[in-house]
Amino acid sequence: MVRLMKEDDLERIMKIEHASFPTPWSPQAFITELTENEYARYFCLEIGEKVIGYMGLWFILEEGHITNVAIAPEFRGQRFGELLMRSVMQRMQVEGMERMTLEVRASNYTAQRLYERLGFVLAGRRKGYYSDNREDALIMWVELDSMGAKG
Ligand SMILES: CC(C)(COP(=O)(O)OP(=O)(O)OC[C@H]1O[C@@H](n2cnc3c(N)ncnc32)[C@H](O)[C@@H]1OP(=O)(O)O)[C@@H](O)C(=O)NCCC(=O)NCCS
Repeated sequence: MVRLMKEDDLERIMKIEHASFPTPWSPQAFITELTENEYARYFCLEIGEKVIGYMGLWFILEEGHITNVAIAPEFRGQRFGELLMRSVMQRMQVEGMERMTLEVRASNYTAQRLYERLGFVLAGRRKGYYSDNREDALIMWVELDSMGAKG
């Protein structure tokens, strides 16, 4: 089940966040997103009452800017990332979103393959975008109507 994230989820979210990213967000960063950012939407994927992944985005005009997506390591490789993203994409399309974008590390082929399966296409590159290792970011976009036709 995909549902909105709550502050109660944060202990579990922080475990997944730390297991997933070299420069994890702080709990306060999530709290600010959940309580103060009117553009932010954060979702959890729950399987049998256990949160196994999450995804966040900013809904600005008709566009979704994805801030993060992660699946707990022990649940990876079972297409849960695709389930979560497809569900959020469908939900946001119903709310009037037309397209989504994200940045992904140039070396993160696993995530790039997932995004391509969902219809995202490469639109550009930000040189040295990631401050920890100066790695480039690839910018990807998807038109949600094209995704809806497939999904
Ligand atoms: C990117 C991510 C969300 C994908 O979620 P997922 O549910 O594992 O996605 P999939 O099930 O489609 O599996 C992805 C690939 O990992 C492979 N895989 C298999 N078992 C795996 C395991 N135990 N752990 C990791 N990957 C595994 C799958 O075979 C698949 O390969 P393919 O793309 O060649 O088919 C997840 O890997 C993740 O949380 N990564 C860390 C955070 C991250 O990079 N987020 C994206 C930032 S832009």
